[in-house]
Amino acid sequence: MKKIAVFTSGGDSPGMNACLRAVVRTAIYHKIEVMGIMHGYDGMIKDEFFKMDEKSVANIIHRGGTILKTARSKEFLTSEGRQKAYDNLKKYNIDGVVVIGGDGSFKGALEFSQKFNIPFIGCPGTIDNDLEGTDVTIGYDTAINTVVEAVDKIRDTAESHDRLFFVEVMGRDAGMIALISGIGVGAENILIPETKTDIDDLVQRLKNKRKTKTSKIIIVAEGDEAGGAFEIAEEVKKRLPDYDTRVTILGHIQRGGNPTAMDRLNSSRMGFSAVENLLKGEKNVMVGIKNKTITLTPFEKAVKQRPQMDKDLLRMMDILSI
Ligand code: F6P
Repeated sequence: MKKIAVFTSGGDSPGMNACLRAVVRTAIYHKIEVMGIMHGYDGMIKDEFFKMDEKSVANIIHRGGTILKTARSKEFLTSEGRQKAYDNLKKYNIDGVVVIGGDGSFKGALEFSQKFNIPFIGCPGTIDNDLEGTDVTIGYDTAINTVVEAVDKIRDTAESHDRLFFVEVMGRDAGMIALISGIGVGAENILIPETKTDIDDLVQRLKNKRKTKTSKIIIVAEGDEAGGAFEIAEEVKKRLPDYDTRVTILGHIQRGGNPTAMDRLNSSRMGFSAVENLLKGEKNVMVGIKNKTITLTPFEKAVKQRPQMDKDLLRMMDILSI
């Protein structure tokens, strides 16, 4: 292997830059040339390749976002798009590719591998922590800390006014951000896509807590089956009209900001291992960290199986929020 390419794809996440830095510098250490691709798969199709060296990734370990920019490419979903991407990879004599992204990015790499044989290796860049084969994804730790910081502030005002707040957090299909940050802020309840949401039950629980608690915070994952925070708040309001209710959607602040120390460490380990494993001949696998150890998981498995919600954590959350 003489030359590799690297790009970021899908929703950005804090730590992508730290991962990119590790990829570029590990490759240079092994005397491999590196080309960056701007704007994810779109840039691969539109020929946005450029040569990178150790200086291209100086002073980025602490920065959120991604200096390579990112996109959710529609064109790569077509066979014509993938052919153009392959032609460009060939044009630059790319022998292997590191993709830093989430499940959509790995599905794209899998699709590509059905026809073309340039090896891809993935680093899990998504705040959602929804990939099988890793305990943590790049950006997840920063995102839950952002949520905790924001909800602590909401708690102050909720407590002053004796209010009920519904706080919506990111997680289209996954409730990890909601569950873990919910535990961190001492939320009265969390609503996540992995478990059934029963509004009557929620109302009953709120009534039970009425005497003991003045402020109440319900964390709602955006992908919850009962709807977003506004819909759920409206339903609850119909049944509990005397509650002073407010809704906060945290939105994209969860995707930005300087990565935490844990995210910088995990991202660096993943980027470093991605290159070393590519050199060992691995392909179509995602690098992850399980029980503090680097693991490789085939893309098919990483994207198909959602990690199980920890039932003990759910039970604990319930007990601690009485
Ligand atoms: O996949 C990460 C994620 O942040 C999800 O939690 C969220 O639903 C989605 O991206 C939002 O994507 P966009 O910024 O494209 O609207």
